[in-house]
Amino acid sequence: MANSLRTSVDVSLTPRQAFDTLVDELTLALNDRRMKFTPSSAGKMLEGDVEVGTIQEWIPGDRISILWHPKTWQAGTTSRLLIKFKAHNEGTSVVVEHEGWDRVLGDTGQELLGWFAGEVVTPMIASSAPARLGDWITDRRARRPSGAMSRDVYKNPTHHWPNFLAILDVLALSPRDYLLEVGCGGGAFLHEALKSVSRASAIDHSPDMVKLATEQNHESIRNGRLKISIAEADSLPFPDGTFTCAVMTGVLGFLPDALLAFKEIFRVLASCGRFVAFAGSKLLRGTPAAPEPMASRLHFYEEYELEDLARRAGFTVVRVDNPSLYEYARKAGLRQPDLDMFKGSAGVQLLIAQKA
Ligand SMILES: C[S@@+](CC[C@H](N)C(=O)[O-])C[C@H]1O[C@@H](n2cnc3c(N)ncnc32)[C@H](O)[C@@H]1O
Repeated sequence: MANSLRTSVDVSLTPRQAFDTLVDELTLALNDRRMKFTPSSAGKMLEGDVEVGTIQEWIPGDRISILWHPKTWQAGTTSRLLIKFKAHNEGTSVVVEHEGWDRVLGDTGQELLGWFAGEVVTPMIASSAPARLGDWITDRRARRPSGAMSRDVYKNPTHHWPNFLAILDVLALSPRDYLLEVGCGGGAFLHEALKSVSRASAIDHSPDMVKLATEQNHESIRNGRLKISIAEADSLPFPDGTFTCAVMTGVLGFLPDALLAFKEIFRVLASCGRFVAFAGSKLLRGTPAAPEPMASRLHFYEEYELEDLARRAGFTVVRVDNPSLYEYARKAGLRQPDLDMFKGSAGVQLLIAQKA
């Protein structure tokens, strides 16, 4: 007990809500670190493919305890991680305790403090500094969305519907089309497009969005009309010449290498394949369409740069339109004052390209 670790967070949720949310978030975050956590009473903790711990207690809304196996380099070094959910007047305290450090690091206390400073406190300080926090918020809400709030937004992204309708107008989809969507988010555009095309595929690099898009389009997936996978825009998991058309909306500004992504889209399109990308120019910086901290992490393109990218990727017929989205916003059922956000066409960019 002399050397032990305890850290906590207070949240305005019930213990059961806090439990479910934490389990959900941990499963995703551990996966990003190549660790797997099976969330159940018979669950295990894997590091890579190696089992490094087992779940001893699993009481939803109350506690989870994980017994770490002895470390491979030292016999007898088991330790225990306990996550407790304690109700209080304003919500729940989530307390994480790790017992058994004396066995793992020795009992001087200095080793534990060294580990605590470097592995727990420093990441906590660094991740609350403005640049890192801005990156986290950008990833969480738009660049690689995850979590309950983003799932709720992308299930039906009301303010993206005008863009969706503008794209559908230009694409004029038919049942003969085989559509690709790059960066499909929660799959709302796909759902609408599948009313016209018979087949579609989509990718997104956010596991949470792929899961949501899969749930939202389960019927088309079950009928073999749609496949959704986790992938990067600049490395599409499809053979050359697969699709008749491709779409990307709200994604371009986040791409680290847009030319590579355009080349990939060009590669997987069949001849005469159409490509439509919806983006916003720097006129939208700081508006509700591109608020901070996302705006300063987005790449805004000039129209001539978009055309140049498409031509360098191989497209021969290329143009950028600046349509007004107002009528599309009305059709999408938006009401005042939201409707006013779509007045005029300033900042709206619709890249339309075709493969020879
Ligand atoms: C702002 S959201 C737009 C989602 C959807 N297209 C819509 O309009 O509702 C951007 C999406 O692009 C995905 N994305 C961003 N960069 C990506 C990349 N390099 N490869 C694949 N997906 C990417 C994100 O994970 C996110 O789902």
